[in-house]
Amino acid sequence: MRSLFLKIFVSYWLAQALFLVLAILVIFAFRQRGEFSEWQAQQATASQRAADVFEKDGPAEVHRYLEELRESQHVRAYLFDEQGREVSGRAVPRWADSLSRGIRPPPREFWQHMAPSPFRRLPVTSAAGHSYTLAVMLPPGPFGPRGVPGLGILIGIISSGLVCYLLARYLTSPVVRLRAATRRLAEGDLTARAGSAGSRRRDEIAELVRDFDIMAERLETLVKAQSRLLNDISHELRSPLARLNVALGLARQRSGPETQSALERMELESDRLNHLIGSLLTIARLESGADPSRKSVLALGVMVTEIAIDADYEAQARHCHVKPRVVNDCRVWGEGILLHSAIENVVRNGAHYTAEGTAVDVSLEHTGGEAIIRVADSGPGVPEEALEKMFRPFYRVDDARGRETGGVGLGLAITERTVRLHGGTVKAWNRPEGGLTVEIRLPCAPVPEAEAAPALASAGTHQNT
Ligand SMILES: Nc1ncnc2c1ncn2[C@@H]1O[C@H](COP(=O)(O)OP(=O)(O)O)[C@@H](O)[C@H]1O
Ligand SMILES: [Mg+2]
Repeated sequence: MRSLFLKIFVSYWLAQALFLVLAILVIFAFRQRGEFSEWQAQQATASQRAADVFEKDGPAEVHRYLEELRESQHVRAYLFDEQGREVSGRAVPRWADSLSRGIRPPPREFWQHMAPSPFRRLPVTSAAGHSYTLAVMLPPGPFGPRGVPGLGILIGIISSGLVCYLLARYLTSPVVRLRAATRRLAEGDLTARAGSAGSRRRDEIAELVRDFDIMAERLETLVKAQSRLLNDISHELRSPLARLNVALGLARQRSGPETQSALERMELESDRLNHLIGSLLTIARLESGADPSRKSVLALGVMVTEIAIDADYEAQARHCHVKPRVVNDCRVWGEGILLHSAIENVVRNGAHYTAEGTAVDVSLEHTGGEAIIRVADSGPGVPEEALEKMFRPFYRVDDARGRETGGVGLGLAITERTVRLHGGTVKAWNRPEGGLTVEIRLPCAPVPEAEAAPALASAGTHQNT
C-alpha cells in the first residue's frame, strides 16, 4: 500500500471493525448461560396451552387466552390448524399468514433488519394428537428475540468505515496539496502554494503546510530579487555599450588604415558583449517565471523546419547539412520567441559541432501528448560527466572550444530554462555511432485547427546564442 490515505483508512477501519466484533463476541461469551428471553422459557407451555384450550374450550376461549398473552406480555400470536386455518376466528395479519405457511415475513421497518427476527413459528401437538402451528411476533424487551444482529454488525462496520474514510481524508488532504505544491515549485513555478491561507486548522500538518507556504513565499522573493538584479545590471550595461559603439563608429571614420584592424576587433568584442547581455536578459526573464500574456498556440513543425533551413544555410560553409524531419506535427502553447531560440540554440550547436561534411538530423515527433524534438549530430559528443552540466549557465565543455566560436555557455542554459518553463524536459546523450543527441520534450496543446494559424508569425523572430 503506497498511499498514506489508504494506510490510515484501512488500518483505522480494521481496528474499529475488530473492536466492534470483539465487543459483541465478548458480550455474548460472558452472558450468563441461563439468560435467554423470558419468552423462550414460556414458549413451550404457552403453545401447548393454546392448542389444549382450543380443543377443550373452543375458539372463544383460545381467543381470550391469546389476547391475554398479548396484553400481559405484548406477544402477538395466532394458532393455525393442520389445514392452515386460524382457529380463534380473528382476522389474520399478513405476517402471521406467511409464517403459518412456513415463510419468514420480511421485517416491516428498516431498524428491524438490525436485530434478530421477531417472528417465531412453533409447531405443537395437542393432547388429542392433532398438529397445530403457533405464529408469534415477539416484542422488544425481555420477551424479545435474542441472537447476534448480523445486519447490525454490518451497518456498524460500514458506518465506522465512513467515519474512517472522512478521518483519513481529513488527515491526508493537506499532505496531498503539499505534495502538489512542492512538485510545482520544483518545476519552477514560484507562485505555488499549498493553500494555508483560508484554513483554520491548527494541528501539526497545518503548521507544516503554513511553513511550506512561508518558505515558498521567501523563495519567490529571493529569486525575483536575484533576477531583477541580473536584469538591472544587464540593462545598465547596455547603454554604455551603445555609446561605445557610436564612439567606435566615429573613430573608424577618422582613423587611418593602420588602426582599422584594432577597431574591427573592438567592434567584434562589442558585438559579443551585446549578445551576452541579450542572453543575460533572457535568462533573467526566464528566472522570474512565465508570462501568460505572451503565450500563444505554436505549430512546432513549421518552427523546426524554419530553424533547420536557417542553420543549414550557415552550415554549408563547412559542407554540412541540417535536415528537418517532421514525423508528425504538433502544436504547443507557449512563448514563440523563447521556444524558437531554445530550439535554435540546440540546432546551431549541432550544426557547429558536427564533423565537416556530415549532416545534423532534426526530427519532430508527436507521441503520447508530447512533442519530441531530437537533434542528432556527428560531432565529438561530450564527456559523460558533462551531459547534465552543459545545461548550466556559463558551462563550456572545454574553454578553447567555446571561445573560438564566441560562445559563453548560455545557449543551452536558456534552452533548459525555457523548456522547463513550458512544462517540458531536455536531456542529452552521446550516440553510440559518435556525436551527440539532444532531446527536447514539450507537452502538446489540445487546440482547434483554426487557432494555430495567427501564432505562426510570432515564431519567425530570431534570437539565438
Ligand atoms: N552538439 C554538441 N556537440 C558537442 N559539444 C556540445 C554540443 N552542444 C553543446 N556542446 C558543449 O556544451 C557547451 C555549452 O553549450 P552552449 O550552452 O550552447 O554554449 P555556447 O555558448 O558555448 O554555445 C558548449 O560549450 C560545448 O562545449
Ligand atoms: Mg551554443
